[in-house]
Amino acid sequence: MQLRPPLYTLVLIAAALCIVVLSAQECVNDEYGNCKSTERSHDCLDPPEFLRFVSSSHRDKSVISSLRGTIENVISAEDASAFVNSLPNFIEASGYEKNTNGKTYAAPQGYAALGLKELKPHSDAYSKIMTIREKVRSATEKSLNICPGSLYIDFTTVSQKVEGGAHRAHADNCIHYFEDGVAKCDTTRAHPYPKRVAASILYLNHPRSGEFEGGQYFFANGTNHGEVEDGGIVDISTGKMVFFTSGIENLHGALPVLRGENKAAEPRRLALALWYVFDKSLMESAEASDANAPTEIFTLPLPNGVDMEKALQAMGMYLVSRQNKPMIGAWKVSKYGDSALHVLFKDHSAMFSITYTKAPSSMVVERHTDTNKRASLQYMLQESVMLHAVLDEAMRLISETELNGSSEIDLFNGGLSLARSKLPARQA
Ligand SMILES: *[C@@H]1O[C@H](CO)[C@@H](O)[C@H](O)[C@H]1NC(C)=O
Ligand SMILES: *[C@@H]1O[C@H](CO)[C@@H](O)[C@H](O)[C@H]1NC(C)=O
Repeated sequence: MQLRPPLYTLVLIAAALCIVVLSAQECVNDEYGNCKSTERSHDCLDPPEFLRFVSSSHRDKSVISSLRGTIENVISAEDASAFVNSLPNFIEASGYEKNTNGKTYAAPQGYAALGLKELKPHSDAYSKIMTIREKVRSATEKSLNICPGSLYIDFTTVSQKVEGGAHRAHADNCIHYFEDGVAKCDTTRAHPYPKRVAASILYLNHPRSGEFEGGQYFFANGTNHGEVEDGGIVDISTGKMVFFTSGIENLHGALPVLRGENKAAEPRRLALALWYVFDKSLMESAEASDANAPTEIFTLPLPNGVDMEKALQAMGMYLVSRQNKPMIGAWKVSKYGDSALHVLFKDHSAMFSITYTKAPSSMVVERHTDTNKRASLQYMLQESVMLHAVLDEAMRLISETELNGSSEIDLFNGGLSLARSKLPARQA
């Protein structure tokens, strides 16, 4: 069966787009095999034109093929492996999901990640990621025929998927549903990143070097209940990237990562994902770590008898139950590594984290923002409401465990009132 768009068509489209972008100008291959021009194209689309073009795809499906594509050899296999070798350890992350009984649990997704914040500025890994992400960003911009300099990266992540790691079909800027098999954006539900316009994923290893099978990227059919599109599976190879606009025109996901031929080897699939916006104020700060160090809001000492894992689990569930307060999609809670919870506000201006430490036992609450951004006023108001509730819950959870003697009770009560004194007064 020959259905649109098989992989080679995507590649041809990418190449054709490149030629269209450069119109009458000459297309010179640069060292990465991408066509390149020193002159600014007259035919490029500025942000409003591009958004209109994307919208037209909802009426005219033939437009969709111009809103996605793949490019081979964006970086060399040597550069990819040098970059991977320079990286620090990945951090296990998981989202909260509901099981069939409606119970919420932290679902490990065979997925671990590293963001810019985990890389030390001026380190080898940092300078490598800065170079690679700009290469990918400009290739995406050019391939989508967006005028140079219009796309800003709002989030960078290096992801590691291990056995079972997969992604269900989704759009990147809205929550979708199907009406008679046709994907629609649910405008009644808030998405954390409604302003995203495009994304790209650059593969950093190969099924052979990563000892995996499967794990392919796929486009899901927006007119057929999100079934994998015919010809919509993108095979993975080192240095290859896939780019696509963020709306329901490009529902996409990843097939599960499986063990490779060598069943004893742990499969590991690595990719660099970038998401883009037109709004410069949402640009991810390039100055990482030091300048972005989180601000401590408070540290609550906990009794030594507290089981930290259970405490984190219980607090995670509690936070999940408040994710839609005071509005749908207000907060997004995820478990980060073994000892922390991340709680991101819907306007993405800031998040807070709760880290459980041992010896001494404590609960550390910190606020994270990017250097070039300030937490919004709305975030600050909702943060204090949420953190008062967190302290109430910490107290409720502790009173169910044994406090060992009056000195621990005093320590805990003292910690609670100190923590509250650091928050704005409780809302009525
Ligand atoms: C998407 O589904 C529709 C409806 O079943 C079908 O006609 C079309 O060929 C499919 N497109 C792709 C690319 O799979
Ligand atoms: C409780 O405190 C006593 C005295 O401070 C100490 O000897 C004991 O080990 C503590 N028990 C627990 C469970 O921490």
